[in-house]
Amino acid sequence: MTADDEFERALERAAVRLGVAERVCVLTGAGVSAESGVPTFRASDGLWEGHRIEDVASPFGFQRDPQLVWTFYNARRANVATVKPNAGHHALKAMEDRWGDRFTLVTQNVDGLHRAAGSKNVLEIHGSLHRTRCTLCREIADRGLEPLPELPACHCGAMLRPDIVWFHENLPEDIWEAAITAAHQCDVLLVVGTSAVVHPAASLVPIAKRSKSPGATVIEVNLTPTEASAFADIGLYGPSGQVLPRLVEQLG
Ligand code: APR
Repeated sequence: MTADDEFERALERAAVRLGVAERVCVLTGAGVSAESGVPTFRASDGLWEGHRIEDVASPFGFQRDPQLVWTFYNARRANVATVKPNAGHHALKAMEDRWGDRFTLVTQNVDGLHRAAGSKNVLEIHGSLHRTRCTLCREIADRGLEPLPELPACHCGAMLRPDIVWFHENLPEDIWEAAITAAHQCDVLLVVGTSAVVHPAASLVPIAKRSKSPGATVIEVNLTPTEASAFADIGLYGPSGQVLPRLVEQLG
């Protein structure tokens, strides 16, 4: 059997499992936005656009040099302002249309592209580039992608930070609880474009797998196998911007 035949068979099996699923949960990572032109995180040099991850994505980095952190996030905001959702995001929106509120999209991405594609039931477990959070009064504000000052301040006078979950920080409790519930209850978990190495996000995969007998069917969509592959019943290896529309088409 050729690799193409194997892929087509896997696609058919995935569509059959999805076709009978009562509830569907999706976990997405940076790979789903790669075809829109948003860079993924784990470059081989261990740097994040030239910065050490600790310097730009940790509370200690922000304490040390808030200006550097804001320069980094303002550049990410400016980049995201120039990109559009791709066919993968649109396919996930089409799935939400099919399952309605029995479909939950959990994303580690902060780029807002799922919402831009029209997805509504989105749990942004790592926050959003669109939002700021006050370091003092904690107010969260949706600033869209408008350019922000080099060091933006809250109306209360204190410094603002991006409303992003950094390394060494906890996920927002209510959003994380909702994600766990969706993983527990789903019949199919689609794991799309994530290396599945960052926890607790990646733990949604074993949670879905072990939640009920015989466990959710886990379908992985990625360019390559990942840490999640050991839990995957079906692997669809290829770009999500091509694989997800094929899956929707196969679902009919
Ligand atoms: N289609 C499908 N998968 C893709 C594509 C594509 N077009 N391009 C890349 N990928 C896959 C890669 O093979 C890799 O497995 O996307 C994954 C990207 O992995 P990471 O860069 O590690 O991104 P992610 O898993 O989202 O990182 C998780 O880590 O840095 C933190 O908080 C940040 O949310 C992020 C978290």
